[in-house]
Parts: sequence; structure tokens; C-alpha cells
Amino acid sequence: MEFEPKNIIVTGGCGFIGSNFVRHVVDNHPEVHVTVLDKLTYAGNPENIAGLPADRVELVVGDICDEDLLDRIVPGHDAIVHYAAESHNDNSIADPGPFLRTNVEGTFRLLEACRRFGVRLHHVSTDEVYGDLALDDPARFTEETPYRPSSPYSSTKASSDMLVRAWARTFGVRATISNCSNNYGPYQHVEKFIPRQITNLIDGARPKLYGDGLNVRDWIHTEDHSSAVWAILTQGRIGETYLIGADGERSNIDVLRAILEAFGRGPDDFDWVRDRPGHDRRYAIDPSKLRRELGWEPAHTDFAEGLAETVAWYREHEAWWRPAKAATEYHYGSIECYISLRD
Ligand code: NAD
Ligand code: DAU
Repeated sequence: MEFEPKNIIVTGGCGFIGSNFVRHVVDNHPEVHVTVLDKLTYAGNPENIAGLPADRVELVVGDICDEDLLDRIVPGHDAIVHYAAESHNDNSIADPGPFLRTNVEGTFRLLEACRRFGVRLHHVSTDEVYGDLALDDPARFTEETPYRPSSPYSSTKASSDMLVRAWARTFGVRATISNCSNNYGPYQHVEKFIPRQITNLIDGARPKLYGDGLNVRDWIHTEDHSSAVWAILTQGRIGETYLIGADGERSNIDVLRAILEAFGRGPDDFDWVRDRPGHDRRYAIDPSKLRRELGWEPAHTDFAEGLAETVAWYREHEAWWRPAKAATEYHYGSIECYISLRD
């Protein structure tokens, strides 16, 4: 029987993907009220959910690690959809501490709150928990692939998945997990690959490509991620993991050249930069279980079209990204400095 939540908490609902899910619920499920719980770190922006009706969405600014806060707000909700995380690999290499706290301790605190108040949890995770694949490996990740995380970020996400599995089995917490591939679309922070290169080009700066540029990511539009999470929350089997992907494998250099073309720039008009330490080579998701069991299908199947719309969105929304751009590039300078000193 389908789960029909009326009152949900979305952690990290002011971030890139969480805010898309909040808008997805408001647009498609008029019976549902959303409480957004977000600490508003550098990655959280209340503008991402601005303009949504006040009787449908309430923002609580706070930390998922704050047990007293959870005791106050969790009762009365049917489910928590858990997006809040430190999400950027490069940051996790320079300073892993916040990743341990939010991604591991924060998930533990939410699980304990779900246990105390009998609330359903959907835990949003990443394909990076499975490590990487060789470029010529015909395999893709499935729900049975062993965990083999490479970075401080992905190891904390893997740890959080393990906690969810243990709390489901030992304490009977009604939980599901999804592991999704790389998202793109509007409202993504300018630290991430696609928005960083688009905004560099708008600024007349050169894009930055790590290593040999042949690393492969499996791109999915964030709206497709949101529809998949809703399907799992409402129809997924308790205790199960579902992989989310849209058959979108592309090398970084191909994606960058498509962005350069959208700006009328030459295919080599970028800087090669030092590789990310431990850089995963290839991610690839087999989403068969999600499609077969829940009948989910992605709506955004044309990557070129989705990328063009994303480029247009950043061109039209400079006021949204401009405040974070200089600080992000400055921070990249410190990360590069940290890596050179380490080497
Ligand atoms: P993001 O960095 O854009 O947003 C994270 C949000 O969490 C921000 O609003 C931030 O303020 C909030 N937050 C951080 N620490 C918090 C805390 N302690 N308490 C409350 N709120 C806190 O991240 P994103 O790219 O939107 O990713 C969201 C989730 O999806 C993450 O769990 C990430 O691991 C997962 N995911 C991301 C991708 C991707 O491609 N970006 C792919 C698969 C899975
Ligand atoms: O696979 C899902 C994961 O995708 C999520 O769990 C993470 O939260 C999300 O950040 C993303 O991780 P990646 O490390 O793959 O994303 P990022 O945008 O940082 O980088 C994408 C690829 O582009 C990666 O191979 C590194 C490369 N890159 C990145 C930047 C920022 C560059 O070549 N140049 C850059 O300037």
C-alpha cells in the first residue's frame, strides 16, 4: 500500500537538490506540508525556496545535530527526507571535520529522532559510496555493488548509509536509502563542476579541468532526482536501497567542450589544472530496480537541452550566484595551495 505523507521534514531544503525536492512537492502534491530544516551553511540559500506559499512551506534554521531542536520539531511529522550534508569532495580533502559531524553524527541524530517518534526516514545518498569503475569496465553500479568509498566525503556518506541500515534492522526504523549519480540544473552552488565553468565563462575567466579530463560522471537532471525520491518515499519498500540514474555517462572534457560551445569559445579554451587527490575515475548507475519496481522514468533525457537550459539559467540569474563566486574561487586557491604543500 502506498505511503501518503501529509507533513514532512526536508533536511538541507535550502541546498541545490533539497530545494528542488521542496519545489517538486509544492508543485505536485498539494496535500503535503513541508518543514525545511537547514543550518544555512555557505551552501544553503533561503532564496532557493523563496516565493513558495507560507502555508505550504516553513523554514526552520537549525542544525540536524541539535537533539533538542529535533525533539521540538520532529513530533507530528510523518517522514523526514534527509538531504542535509557537506557535499563537496574538494572541501572534504582540505577539511574533513565538518563532513564527519554533519554527514555521520547528523544522520545518527536524525535516526535517533525517527526511532523516538516513530517517523519514517528517506536517506538521500550518493553513488560515490561504491568507489569508481575503470573507463573500459562494462559494469555499472547496482544495489549489490560492495561499498568502496575513496574520499572523506564519500566515506562519510557510506558511513551514514550503514547507520541507516543498522537502525532499520536493529531498531525497526522505517527507512529507505537512495544513491544517486551527479545532478545538474539550476540553483547548483558555483563550487561544483558545471556551474563553476559556466560562471567562469560569464566572467571572462578560463574554465578549469582536473587531471586528463577523461573522468566520467553519470549526469541526471535534479528534477528527475526529485521525482525518483518522491516515488521511493511513497512506494518504496521499507529497508530497501534504490539507485537513481538516467543513463547519462559523459567525460568531463566532453561536458566542458559543450559548455565552451554554448559560449562560442574554442574547444581548447580552458586550463588544465592539477588533479584532485584520489579522484574517482568513473561513476555509472544501473537504475533497473527503480524503473522495474516503482515504474519511475526520467523526464529530462536530452542532456544537451538540459545543459543549454542550465547555461541560460546562470546567465539570467547572476544576482543569485554572484555573492558566492569570488569567495568560492578564493577558497579554490587555498585548496590548491593545501594540495601543493601536501605534495
Ligand atoms: P548542497 O551542498 O547544495 O546543500 C546542502 C544543504 O544542507 C545546504 O542547504 C546546507 O545549508 C545544509 N546543511 C549542511 N549541514 C547542515 C546541518 N548540519 N544541519 C542542517 N542543514 C545542513 O548539497 P546538494 O548537492 O544539494 O546535495 C544534497 C544531498 O544529496 C547530499 O546528501 C548529497 O550527498 C546528496 N547527493 C548529491 C548529489 C549531487 O550531484 N550534488 C548526487 C547524489 C547525492
Ligand atoms: O556522484 C554524485 C556526487 O556528485 C555527489 O555525491 C556530490 O555531492 C557531488 O558534488 C558530485 O561529486 P563530484 O566530485 O563528481 O562533482 P564535482 O562537481 O565536484 O566534479 C565533477 C567532476 O568534474 C569531477 O570529476 C571533478 C571534475 N572537476 C570539478 C571541478 C569543480 C573539474 O575538472 N574541474 C573543476 O573545477
